[in-house]
This record gives sequence, C-alpha cells and structure tokens, in this order.
Amino acid sequence: MAMTEPVLTKRIPTAPWGDPKDRRTVDLAEYLRTDGYKGLEKALDQKPADVVETVKGAVLRGRGGAGFPAGLKWSFLPEPDGGRRYLAVNCDEAEPGTFKDRLLVDFDPHHVLEGIAIACWACQLDTAYFFIRGEYHHQAKVFQRAIDEAYEHGIFGKQGLLKGKVPFAVDCHLHRGAGAYICGEETGLLEAVEGKRGWPRIKPPFPAVKGLFGRPTIVNNVETLAAVVPIIENGVDWWKSHGCESAIGGAPSYGSKLMGVSGHVERPGVFECDLGIPLRELVETHCGGMKNGKAFKGAIAGGVSMGVLGPDQFDAPMDFDIGRFDVLGLGTACPTVFDEDTDMVAVARNIARFFKNESCGQCTPCREGSGWILKLITRIERGAGTTKDLDLLLEIAGSMGLTPGTTICGLADGNNWAVRTIVNKYRGEFEARVKPQFIPVTVTAGG
Ligand SMILES: Cc1cc2nc3c(=O)[nH]c(=O)nc-3n(C[C@H](O)[C@H](O)[C@H](O)COP(=O)(O)O)c2cc1C
Ligand code: SF4
Repeated sequence: MAMTEPVLTKRIPTAPWGDPKDRRTVDLAEYLRTDGYKGLEKALDQKPADVVETVKGAVLRGRGGAGFPAGLKWSFLPEPDGGRRYLAVNCDEAEPGTFKDRLLVDFDPHHVLEGIAIACWACQLDTAYFFIRGEYHHQAKVFQRAIDEAYEHGIFGKQGLLKGKVPFAVDCHLHRGAGAYICGEETGLLEAVEGKRGWPRIKPPFPAVKGLFGRPTIVNNVETLAAVVPIIENGVDWWKSHGCESAIGGAPSYGSKLMGVSGHVERPGVFECDLGIPLRELVETHCGGMKNGKAFKGAIAGGVSMGVLGPDQFDAPMDFDIGRFDVLGLGTACPTVFDEDTDMVAVARNIARFFKNESCGQCTPCREGSGWILKLITRIERGAGTTKDLDLLLEIAGSMGLTPGTTICGLADGNNWAVRTIVNKYRGEFEARVKPQFIPVTVTAGG
C-alpha cells in the first residue's frame, strides 16, 4: 500500500523526530544530543526486577495487536539459569492497513534500540533478534546502520550494556523476513528466526518458558518497546496521565499510541494520540475529515483481523475496550476508513482473499475454511449466491479460530471476525446480491 507522510500531533515516544516538514532519520549523534539513551542509563541504575515492576505498574499494553500487558509478560520468565535468553522484536507489520512500526524504524531507530536494551536488562535477556518484514528493504538498511552505531557507541557488545556500565552483555541482530503474514504471529516468527518455515507452534509452552531454540524468550512489538523508554524516563504517574481508564471495569488503556489512518479520509497518516480518542475525532481533527465530505460508512477497527466498526460506531473510543462495539479488539489501532460509496461485499471479498492466501495450512478449519469463505463471497458478489450461501458463510467463519478452539493460532480468528462483522453489519448489501433478480414484464392492452 502507498505510504503516507506521518503527521504527529502529540509527540511522546516520537519527540525527537524533528520538524514534520523536514523529517529524517535521527542518527546516533542527534539522538544523544536530544538526551537519547538517558532512559537506559536510568534503567541500569536500577535492579532488573525494579524495571519490570515499573513497566508492570504502568500497565503498558502490547502495541502489536493483542494488548497483553508487557510487564506481566516479562514476569512470566523463569529465573536465569546461565543459559541463553532471547528478545524477539516483532517488526513484521504485515497486517493490512498497519504502517506505524515502519515510522519508528525509519525516523527513530535508536529509540527502538534503547527500548530493546532496557527490556534486555530488565528481563536479563542476552540476545535480541529484530525481525523485520521482508518488504521493508529501506527500513532494514536504516536499522542495521543504527545497530552498527549502537555497537560502536558501546550500547551492545561484550563489554556490557552502555560501555560496560553494567557487566551484562547484550547482542542485537537484524533478521529479515520473506514476506509471509503468518511470521508476525509470535511463534511463527520464532520458527522463521530459527530458519524454518513460519508455522505457528501449539501453546503452551509459551515463548517466555520455551521460545527461540527452546530457551526463554520475550516477544514484543516495536512500538511496545519504544514506549518503555518514556515510561522509564518520566515514571508511571506521567504515563498514566495519558490514555484512559476502562469504561467497562476492565484493564486500563494508558499512554499514547501511534494510530495509522488510511482509506477515505482527506489526510491519511500516522498520528500519535492518547488512547481513548474517539474515531470520529481522529478522523475529523487529525485527518482533515472524510474525503470529499462524504459520509462515514464504517472502518476496519485496527488491522483487518479486528473486523469492522459499522456506520453507527463512528464515535467508538480507540482504546482496548473497543471490543464492546462488536469487533475483536483494538488490534494495531490503525483504522481503514470507508465512505458511503464503498461496496462492502467487495471489501469482504478482498479481505477473504488475503486470509486465504496467508493461511499457513496447518489447521483444517483455517486452510479449508478460508478457501470456502472466498468462494462463497465471490459467488455472492457476482450475484450467483443464495440466502443459504450467506448462512453457510457465517457458519464457516464462526467455527474458525482460537476462540471456538479449532485452530493453532489467531489468524483464523481474524478471518472469522472480519467476515462475520462485515456480513452482520452490512447484511442488507449481501441480501441484495443474493436475491433472485426480478424482471418486470410489461403487459400492454391488446398485446
Ligand atoms: C496472524 C497474526 C499476525 C500477527 N502479526 C503481528 C505483527 O506483524 N506485529 C506484531 O507486533 N504482532 C503481530 N501479531 C501478534 C503477535 O503474535 C504477538 O502477540 C505480539 O508480537 C506481542 O507483542 P506485544 O505484546 O508487544 O504486542 C500477530 C498475531 C497473529 C495471530
Ligand atoms: S490458524 Fe491458520 S495460519 Fe494459524 S496455524 Fe492454523 S492454519 Fe496456520
């Protein structure tokens, strides 16, 4: 998809990116000039367990899609036993409509590296693998250059973190993907880093206990790790002053978040906003409104896997409680917006094609179901479907995924939610296609 120029409204993890009109990669010299690696210095003055407690206290929820609290995940690691322990950084970013991690890598790679170093110290992980999607050729070069700079500056390497400030050495490697969406699923990613085909693993065991090469491993998204830096620098109370509490008595959505908006808006881009901002405000204030003043028809919530928000859900707050609007979740918080002219049957077909192509094929419901879903939607789109096809479509979609308990990974849940929410929220459009066509017969007098 076409990448758009980011427009940052509230610059917290993105503070040193410079003037939006004159944006470039922040190199090591500039990063250090703007207090870069001060968060790492502060973290190294603390015991690793205390850093974990801070991240836990901040309730930093994973920015890769599932929203799982990072500090809690970190606390699942077993005690160090002298063997290797890994950090796998997820920069696969293959979710359609999601393009936020790319910007962190493009413009602020040292910020990401600082988050990686802090996480490695906190969790006592000696090796980090940065897994970057295959199509990010430029970003891979930018990041490798930053890794090299970080080694030269003594952040990583055998002398110990930050020029040997602590006698704990960390190595960081870049690993390029080959373009499969499934390698973004955390255990598919681990298989890929091990040099195997990206097939997700059955869990448990979870990566924290048995991950890369059978050793304890933390998998975190790029943005999650970037957010660790300002949390360590500014403290838990500051972090909690951004974002929102849960509206339904669940876990809070603290902090700011990169939100990448695409689709029918005047000014698509990546915006840094506090969690909880209503989608309407995101579109109207930051994206210049709907394109050509058209009416809002719906939006993919945050990556196609999350399903769609319907025409009456424009005011849904962009926080981790968004599931109450009958979508799977906030996902990556990167909505694709549709205007009144959008053919939702075509949208469903396009998404179904994506999932069919990206299913890794291990689980029968996902492998076969994704093919059948595409066939049925294509038939309906062509006007050759029946009402029975519509019911069958919902039945197949609803039986796939971790939630119904039929698959190894969540790719099938994404297919399930995307299809069901589109069919349920725009049922009229589908029914109009499956109705038999009525050809009026004109009878004239005497004829
Ligand atoms: C099919 C599939 C694709 C995924 N793709 C990504 C991805 O590209 N990037 C990412 O960070 N997480 C992705 N995830 C989520 C990861 O499995 C994992 O939850 C995440 O990397 C953990 O990091 P976090 O807790 O910091 O968010 C994907 C999950 C599934 C099921
Ligand atoms: S759900 Fe689909 S993508 Fe995930 S492991 Fe099973 S077949 Fe592969």
